[in-house]
Amino acid sequence: MQKIALDAITEAVINHGDRGKSHPRLYEIYTSLVRHLHDFVREVNLTESELQQGRNFLNQASHHTQEIPTGEIHLLTDLLGISELVELLGDAHHGTEGNLEGPLYVPNAPERQMGDRLGIDAEGDSLFLSGRVLDLNGQPIANALIDVWQPNSKGLYDIQDPSQSPGNFRGRFKTNKSGEYRFETVVPLGYKVPSSGPSGELLGLLGRHPWRAAHIHFKLSAPEYTPLTTQIFMAGDPHLDSDTTFAVRSAVVQLQKHEAPEELKARQQSKPFYTTEFDFVLRPVTLTTTYQATDEHYAYITNPQ
Ligand SMILES: [Fe+2]
Repeated sequence: MQKIALDAITEAVINHGDRGKSHPRLYEIYTSLVRHLHDFVREVNLTESELQQGRNFLNQASHHTQEIPTGEIHLLTDLLGISELVELLGDAHHGTEGNLEGPLYVPNAPERQMGDRLGIDAEGDSLFLSGRVLDLNGQPIANALIDVWQPNSKGLYDIQDPSQSPGNFRGRFKTNKSGEYRFETVVPLGYKVPSSGPSGELLGLLGRHPWRAAHIHFKLSAPEYTPLTTQIFMAGDPHLDSDTTFAVRSAVVQLQKHEAPEELKARQQSKPFYTTEFDFVLRPVTLTTTYQATDEHYAYITNPQ
C-alpha cells in the first residue's frame, strides 16, 4: 500500500497511470500542471472553504449567459494573461504578430465583397479600412481569406446585443490579385469585458478595471501559409496601456479623419469619416507553425503516417 503524506502525494498523483506511454504530450502538460497546482496549494496553505470557493467560481464561469454566450472560461484565460502568453510563446518574430482570439468569434461569418460595409450602425463614425496581405518577401498573397469581427460603436458584438442582427460587424473577405482588401465599417469603441459574472467579480475584488482598448479582430488564412489570428488597435484609445487582457502590442493604427466637403462627397458620407490602412504579413507553413495551428496537424506531427 502506498503511503500518502504531504511530501508524497504529488508524486503519487503523477505516477498513477501509464506515465505518458499512450499520450506523451498530454502527460507532459498534466504532470507540470499537477506539480504547479500542488505547489500553489502548499504555498498559500489553501483551506477547505477556499477550495470550495474556487470550485464554485469555476462552476459559475462555465455557465452560458447572454453577455458571454460561450461561458467565461475563455474570458478567464484572457484576463489572467494566459492567452497572450501563449501568443508570445508562439511568436516567430517575423510576419504579423498573432493575438488572442477572445471568446466572441463566430465561425462562418457572412461572405462579403471587396469594399462592402461590415455592418449597420447609423450612429457610428464610418471607417474605411484597407491594406494588403503579403508574404515575408513583401509579395502579395491573392485569394487570402480575411475573417473580420468587431463590436459596434457602442462596444457591443452582435451575439451580445438583441438589437443587432446575427452577422452584424462580421464578415469574410478575399484578397484580390494584388493581395488587397478593402471594406467599410464603423470606428469600434473600447468596451468593458462582461462584468456581471464571476470573472467581473474577480476583477472587482482585485481592483482591476474591465476595459479593453478599441480593436478589430482578424483571422487570416491562405494555402501554404500559417493561419493568423490577430487584432488591430485604435490609436488614442485611453486603455492602450492597460488593456485588461494584456493584448496590446505593436499593431496600433492611426485613424485619419476626413471632414472636407469634397471628401465627404467623394465617399458619399454625410458626416466626417475615418480611414486607415494595415498590411498583414503571413508566414509560410512549417512543421513548427502547423504544430500550433490545428489538432489535425498536431496529430500528424506526433504520429506521421
Ligand atoms: Fe473583441
